Amino acid sequence: MNILVTGCYGQLGTEIRKIANTDTTHQWFFTDVDTLNICDEDAVERCFSKNHINACINCAAYTAVDKAEEEPELAEKINALAPQILADACLKHDALLVHISTDYVFDGNAECPYCEEDPIAPQSVYGLTKAHGEQLIRESGCNYYIVRTAWLYSSTGKNFVKTMLALADSHDSINVVCDQKGTPTWAYDLADMLVHLLNQNGHQPVHEIFHFTNEGQITWYDFTCAIFEITEKSCKVNPITTDQYPTKAHRPAYSVLDKSKIKAYTKRNIPFWRDSLIKCLEEIKRKSLDK
Ligand SMILES: NC(=O)c1ccc[n+]([C@@H]2O[C@H](COP(=O)([O-])OP(=O)(O)OC[C@H]3O[C@@H](n4cnc5c(N)ncnc54)[C@H](OP(=O)(O)O)[C@@H]3O)[C@@H](O)[C@H]2O)c1
Repeated sequence: MNILVTGCYGQLGTEIRKIANTDTTHQWFFTDVDTLNICDEDAVERCFSKNHINACINCAAYTAVDKAEEEPELAEKINALAPQILADACLKHDALLVHISTDYVFDGNAECPYCEEDPIAPQSVYGLTKAHGEQLIRESGCNYYIVRTAWLYSSTGKNFVKTMLALADSHDSINVVCDQKGTPTWAYDLADMLVHLLNQNGHQPVHEIFHFTNEGQITWYDFTCAIFEITEKSCKVNPITTDQYPTKAHRPAYSVLDKSKIKAYTKRNIPFWRDSLIKCLEEIKRKSLDK
């Protein structure tokens, strides 16, 4: 297959590049906004035609959740209108679209894990634009996998794990919210699952939404305690409530995703969040020693 990856320098795109480095079965085309702006319909069409694209993994997105409240048009353009451009190109070129969505499409008021068919009710601009992107892809008629994930982190880019590690080096204690529950997801595990989905699909017609995170469920407070315990940081972690840490965008109180469907479909197990966290922290340590 000729596989186009957009947003390839982001967290997820970087992990897909690592996996592709050892893959000889496909031809990979890696792009980011500097080489393929997914909002540019003509550029997308040229890229699909020239490279005979059979599949596209869309890792490009507007991911600044709080800033999106101030830039709703830009967030809509990148998270909804651009995925529609990719979906139209996929339909025209008979290619499969693998698109990533988010737990923020739900309202966060559930008390048990969200299934794919649960009603969506986004509570933030980011969540609304991602939900709209899903809808436009579903309506396009192209073949697609939409994979919703949550709490993504990796050794590259900006994310919660790296922010907490930096704070631990400059603070004796920090406050972290203890009333939002979800599941951290190592971007490598998601990348690995997406590549597996592509390989499993071959060239079958498909219109599926899946949920994928690591296994388990914890709060941001629990997550921070684990990060500091594993890395032996002495920084104290104080639990606080969401009310004590106001943000521009609403955060879901509960965003655990039910992964039964993707596990049954791929016949694969998913790593537990703590095991993946340990691997990512080892990678972060290796990178800092290499500097
Ligand atoms: N991060 C999370 O916690 C989280 C949670 C749930 C779901 N997700 C979803 O998972 C996916 C991957 O997230 P991520 O954390 O890997 O994102 P990321 O690190 O923010 O990477 C996104 C990439 O897309 C690029 N990009 C932005 N606008 C573009 C455009 N118009 N054309 C082409 N590329 C563009 C960005 O470039 P610049 O950096 O130059 O803007 C960046 O390289 C996204 O769909 C996201 O919504 C993320």
